[in-house]
Order: sequence, then structure tokens, then C-alpha cells
Amino acid sequence: MRNGLPIAANTPVLEVFQLGFGYGEVELFQNLGFTLYKGETRVVLGPSGSGKTTLLHLLAGLLALQSGDVHWQGQSIRGLSEEVLARRRLHFTGLIFQHHYLQAELTALENVLVPGYLANQVDKAWGLELLHRVGLLDRAHLLPKALSGGERQRIAVARALYNRPQLLLADEPTGSLDRRNAEKVWELMLCLAQDLGTAVIVATHDEHLVQGLAELRLG
Ligand SMILES: Nc1ncnc2c1ncn2[C@@H]1O[C@H](COP(=O)(O)OP(=O)(O)OP(=O)(O)O)[C@@H](O)[C@H]1O
Ligand SMILES: [Mg+2]
Repeated sequence: MRNGLPIAANTPVLEVFQLGFGYGEVELFQNLGFTLYKGETRVVLGPSGSGKTTLLHLLAGLLALQSGDVHWQGQSIRGLSEEVLARRRLHFTGLIFQHHYLQAELTALENVLVPGYLANQVDKAWGLELLHRVGLLDRAHLLPKALSGGERQRIAVARALYNRPQLLLADEPTGSLDRRNAEKVWELMLCLAQDLGTAVIVATHDEHLVQGLAELRLG
């Protein structure tokens, strides 16, 4: 539902139209366009400095658009106030960053529940179910400092999907992990997103994780 009207089932989750961005004189990309439907995954590839993080920030509405447009479920995010954007982002997107950014003073379970606290929809059973799905139910009451890097990223995956977002934006979610942990986190993230019908945009350096997924190359 949006503004009291149902959203048509075939409305794309995300549409990107002629998107261009630069910092000052330096143009990073121009005329990017693509469409993402429910449950689809797109991998953003490109060398360091090609603009992967910048693109994800634009798609999340965290950076003001320059040229082109971004639609979330058929509606432009251009010109929305910070307040409206923040509220929509909370329900529409889940975000995962290269470094986990878990709250150091909260337990694993409390970290997963953070989007619930923000949205006033705390469901401890769902938080525990997500911890179970990422294989960390037995770590629920530990603080992040007592978890390994891979475990922290699995908590970040669970947290990002807590609100059952339409779109998951993940910026090098496996960038700080060794190969075995990277593969595990990658698999879990894509499987869980698939189960929830969440579309995924994930930036990575790691070409071997990409196999068979649709790509978008920058730089
Ligand atoms: N706030 C900013 N002001 C000026 N230039 C910036 C700013 N943020 C990023 N840049 C520049 O824009 C380019 C793209 O940065 P971005 O972080 O999007 O690249 P990236 O593809 O994510 O790189 P990496 O793979 O290293 O994470 C870089 O050259 C960076 O120095
Ligand atoms: Mg980056």
C-alpha cells in the first residue's frame, strides 16, 4: 500500500533512469539505467574508485541526485524531504556496509532488532528466527566484540532484512572476510533475501562470487 492505494504487483522495485554523478569536475558515471523486479539480484562490479559506493548511496537516497532519477516502487525519490526519505528508507531498504557497524553496546539479538525499534515494530521471535537462519541463534546474547568478523557480517545481514525490505543494498558485505567466510555470508545473504522476496544490489570486488548473477560494471 502507498498513499492508501495498492501497488501493482508488476511495479518494479527499483528503476534507475539516466543516472549520472560526479564530484566536482570528476565524472564517475553517466546515463546508467536499469530495472530491478521483486527477488532479482544485480551485482555492481568495478575497480576501486569507480563509484560503487557512490551508486549505492544514490540508490538508498543517502546522497542527493544530480542527473537522472531513481524510482522506488514506481515513485521518484527526487525532491522528497529528508524526513519522508528516512521513513521510506527504513521500510523499503535494508543496508549492509563493508564494515559491519553493529552497535558495540548491544547484543547480537538487540542489533538485529534495531530496525524494529526504529519502526516501532519489535518482534523478538522474528529476530530470533533471523539469527537462527544465519546460524547464530546460540550467539544471541553476545556483544559484537565476542563475535568473529564473519559472524558480525551475518548479524548485519539479519539486521538489514529485519523489516522485510523490498530492496537490499549491500556494499562489499564480504570485503573484510577470508574466502571461506565470504562465500558463507554471500550465500546466506542471497538465500535469505530470496526467501523474503527481497531484490538485492550488491557491490563487490570479488569476481568469483558473481557466477551466473546479472552484473552492472562501472569504470
Ligand atoms: N565526498 C567525496 N568528495 C569527493 N570525492 C569523493 C567523495 N566520495 C568519494 N569520492 C571519490 O569518488 C570516487 C568513487 O568513490 P567510491 O567510494 O564511490 O568508489 P568505489 O567504487 O566504492 O571504491 P572502492 O572499491 O575502493 O570502495 C573516488 O575517486 C573517491 O575518491
Ligand atoms: Mg566502495
